[in-house]
Amino acid sequence: MLPTTCGTGLDDPRVAATLKTLHTRTRRDGWVFLRALPAILLAKATGRDISKIVEPYLKDAYISVDPSQGKLLYMTARAIDARLIVEFGTSFAISTIYLGAAARANNGRVIGTEMEPAKVRAARANVAAAGLAPFVDIREGDAMRTLATVEGPIDLLLLDGWKDVYLPMIKMLAPRMHVGTVVLADNIFTYKKALRPYVEYMQDRANGFDSVTLPIGFGHGMEYSVRRR
Ligand SMILES: C[S@@+](CC[C@H](N)C(=O)[O-])C[C@H]1O[C@@H](n2cnc3c(N)ncnc32)[C@H](O)[C@@H]1O
Repeated sequence: MLPTTCGTGLDDPRVAATLKTLHTRTRRDGWVFLRALPAILLAKATGRDISKIVEPYLKDAYISVDPSQGKLLYMTARAIDARLIVEFGTSFAISTIYLGAAARANNGRVIGTEMEPAKVRAARANVAAAGLAPFVDIREGDAMRTLATVEGPIDLLLLDGWKDVYLPMIKMLAPRMHVGTVVLADNIFTYKKALRPYVEYMQDRANGFDSVTLPIGFGHGMEYSVRRR
């Protein structure tokens, strides 16, 4: 294993250049929410959950973690020496590249999941451009199916797919975790209503996690949970 000072981390030139390009594309992609604005406003006015309303508008959107969140993913994976990292919701693989850089430095691997075939193709190409293909397996299809066969122990889990799946996903994967497994779940503030049941579940210590909401990412919010038993 190469030491990180040799450029195996986020300072690796291919990783840094690919992330720079993809974050720039994400910023330019911000307008996608304008397409959904009338539907969002109607949902808000009628007190409905906006997560299901925006999903059809986001099929080709980047909607990624921001650089501060990506760094948190990388640093957490490095801090706990994560060997098996699982990601629900890969999109164009921005978060996957942060996690993949940590996996390479840890001698580990990332299993990503994405159900949009065009995004899967682009994500694989982006991971390859970052030089991380040997450390990343992106599974195509519904994550409840593609992750059903993952053998633990899972060291780190990122939840960043559609919001109604966070709770069934954690229930499916929790038996394959160990004490100290970290779960990071994005968009706690973005989809407050849809994710309330998830946050309540994770913050109820009877369910086996210690958990806190971090105000990180521009308006995102992330739930940071550690398996305690
Ligand atoms: C917010 S984006 C992920 C962004 C990515 N984590 C990043 O930071 O670059 C959510 C993605 O999850 C995918 N997704 C949602 N539900 C899914 C499911 N049940 N199975 C697989 N992929 C899913 C969507 O197609 C979408 O591309």
